[in-house]
Amino acid sequence: MKKVFVKSYGCQMNVYDSERMADALTADGYAQTDSADDADLVVLNTCHIREKAAEKVYSELGRVREIKEARAVEGRETKVVVAGCVAQAEGAEILRRAKVVDVVVGPQSYHRLPAMVREAGAASGRRRLVDTDFPEDDKFDHLPKLDRARIRARGVAAFLTVQEGCDKFCSFCVVPYTRGAEVSRPVSRLIEEARLLAQAGVREITLIGQNVNAYHGEGTDGREWTLGRLLHAVAEVEGVERIRYTTSHPRDMDEALIAAHRDLPQLMPYLHLPVQSGSDRILAAMNRKHTGDEYRRVIDQVRAARPDIALSSDFIVGFPGESDADFEETMRLVADIGFASSFSFKYSARPGTPAAESGEQIAEAVKAERLARLQALLEEQRRAFNGATVGRVVEVLIEKPGRHPGQLGGKSPYLQAVHFDGAGLAVGDIVPVRIVAQGANSLVGEAVRDAAAGNADKMESSAA
Ligand code: 5AD
Ligand code: SF4
Repeated sequence: MKKVFVKSYGCQMNVYDSERMADALTADGYAQTDSADDADLVVLNTCHIREKAAEKVYSELGRVREIKEARAVEGRETKVVVAGCVAQAEGAEILRRAKVVDVVVGPQSYHRLPAMVREAGAASGRRRLVDTDFPEDDKFDHLPKLDRARIRARGVAAFLTVQEGCDKFCSFCVVPYTRGAEVSRPVSRLIEEARLLAQAGVREITLIGQNVNAYHGEGTDGREWTLGRLLHAVAEVEGVERIRYTTSHPRDMDEALIAAHRDLPQLMPYLHLPVQSGSDRILAAMNRKHTGDEYRRVIDQVRAARPDIALSSDFIVGFPGESDADFEETMRLVADIGFASSFSFKYSARPGTPAAESGEQIAEAVKAERLARLQALLEEQRRAFNGATVGRVVEVLIEKPGRHPGQLGGKSPYLQAVHFDGAGLAVGDIVPVRIVAQGANSLVGEAVRDAAAGNADKMESSAA
């Protein structure tokens, strides 16, 4: 049997796409391997969001070339595919720059991947193929259905793509160009997929989309449904104990979605809501179409609906034209809100985006200094949030064996990694755990055995 190695970069959407590509290739006779050295087919599912992400791909292709050459000496062929957002953005340029590549396929054409792989390579006189079309139909309809054994192998927490693409055109971002216009999948398909996942043992589903809360798919009544409504429908699927969604835009946090955080016990108290900057001037230049205070108001509403919610955000420092005063506004917003976790980046000029053309690019040293200051504050907030859970009992979904024998690892409702001793407990269980200490990247807990003390829900609400 031929072997395929799939490597994923970038966001959760790419992780999901990689799984679906692997499914399509498995249906076409490949077995998955986790080593590139013995792979007959190497697929790099790439990310274009920041310069570093794209550069990683070319350096990885250098390593793949060595493998391909070594295998060729032994008379074995290695076909190489570049998929994902770099493929979409650079297209045929990749074939010119990296001779090792046989197939370039954009995120909307994965269903054609098995056929392309068959056509490419030595047997056809080393034909090289590119497909970066945006077809009209839903690629997921052409991919093989999820199968139970594969779902189970991937664990008890799964992603489900509900929406793709973006129509917002933030001036720094490549996503509208690499993922195309916003498309929402119909509710019926999503519920069907959620059922399959739950029946195979999945307990937690994260609905994903580049702009997930702009979801506007066809509902079971033929009308357009919002994400809030979709969340209610997913919550009704038997076996789905936990729901999350990501990534959201502040402008699309509508009332129904905010209310879902109050009304749906399955919806976990965690919200990733990128703000990017705290300066109204920079937010306008970024084309975010909201101000710092509008973001604060949304957060107030979300907190009113779910007081214990863990907030997370994305930040960009050194956007073109960002002054010291603008940056201080970002620091002030962070101080005002208090985030449980976050991602922060130096602005990276992406070819083809409006901000890349700006004459006011910020010096690298200034970006580095601002990033260090921002990250110090965010890290302090992260530790404070995690520290506040020490002594509390939280429900942990057990996802995998822990680092030491007898240990288990899982996630709290707030998406914190928790490790604890769990003799007799199994992956997939959701159990009350008392948090006893805070480590560098995870919390240490003790399973609560006593049923009365173990009523985490009671503890949660009294704590909140
Ligand atoms: N430079 C730096 N960060 C960026 N992001 C997106 N585009 C850029 C860019 N050009 C960040 C944003 C976004 C996250 C996914 O990546 O913060 O929310
Ligand atoms: Fe990267 Fe954006 Fe593509 Fe995800 S959608 S892989 S973040 S460029």
